[in-house]
Amino acid sequence: MLSFCRAASLDDLWRGEIKSIRLRGREVLLANLEGDIMAFENRCGHKGLPLDHGDLAGCIVTCPAHGWQYDLSTGQGINPERARLKRFAVQVVANEILVGFDGEEADAAC
Ligand code: FES
Repeated sequence: MLSFCRAASLDDLWRGEIKSIRLRGREVLLANLEGDIMAFENRCGHKGLPLDHGDLAGCIVTCPAHGWQYDLSTGQGINPERARLKRFAVQVVANEILVGFDGEEADAAC
């Protein structure tokens, strides 16, 4: 069962913006894709570096370290295709962005 944590206000994540936040011991990457809010683990599949300082063009983020690319509408790797970001559930309630966790993470404090 999913357990949600408040991550940010919608006012703090503009369209076309990405940012990171630490929730339940994980670095979470938030993205506002033309009003669709997405959340992923902020960890590139290449060397595990964060993606929040990467370049976002449309829904494609490019890792600032070595250029791996991901489609943030799904988390699927673009280059290389075998990469994939761990995706978290998102709810937007009363202008607040909530990120859902399951398993052992659901029991940790936000
Ligand atoms: S750590 Fe992201 S491309 Fe190398």
